[in-house]
Amino acid sequence: MITCKRKEKEMENVFYMDHPLIQHKISMLRAVQTGTNEFRKLVEEIAVLMAYEALRDLPTEDVEITTPLETCMTPMLSGKKLAIVPILRAGLGMVNGILTLVPSAKVGHVGLYRDPVTHEPHEYYCKLPEAIGERLILVADPMLATGGSAEAAVDFIKQKGGTNIKFMCIIAAPEGVERLHKKHPDVQIYCGHLDRCLNENAYICPGLGDAGDRIFGTK
Ligand code: URA
Repeated sequence: MITCKRKEKEMENVFYMDHPLIQHKISMLRAVQTGTNEFRKLVEEIAVLMAYEALRDLPTEDVEITTPLETCMTPMLSGKKLAIVPILRAGLGMVNGILTLVPSAKVGHVGLYRDPVTHEPHEYYCKLPEAIGERLILVADPMLATGGSAEAAVDFIKQKGGTNIKFMCIIAAPEGVERLHKKHPDVQIYCGHLDRCLNENAYICPGLGDAGDRIFGTK
């Protein structure tokens, strides 16, 4: 059972995180005075908390375990293979957090750059783990802005055989959620927070600025 809130009734597969710890950490992330080191740690911590929610429906199966007292049947993950696919570069900041929960997951990468004029994404790199069609795929990008990169990343993953896909972002713009959901209604979208809108440069407002620059300390 997924407990996080659904805001839009018609967007069946869109989930917003209402956990106070996630909201508190996102507020700290937004603050302009939050430096690189703290920003990185917060992104990782939020990724842990969000992955915990996003993986709530992982299948389990009962296995026989012998405790010091007796033998019993008890649930364990049913061996479903997982792949984490960060969208380069900012998505990298979420990988270690997710791996904290699922350390044996494989990690693929999708590299896209945004055309500075049209803001449309272009692929420059895509490498996914083998047997991608058998895996639950967690695509990670902290910012779901226009939705162009997310849509394109999911397109590439599907072209390579991925079918079971979840998308995780820390902050989303309504425009991005709508675009991704419209193009890929089968993909479950997990958002840490839904912000107001995009500005004329396709930045999310109030947002947190450029997530990649803040994670990597570049400008
Ligand atoms: N990417 C970012 O890093 N920030 C935004 O606000 C939008 C896209």
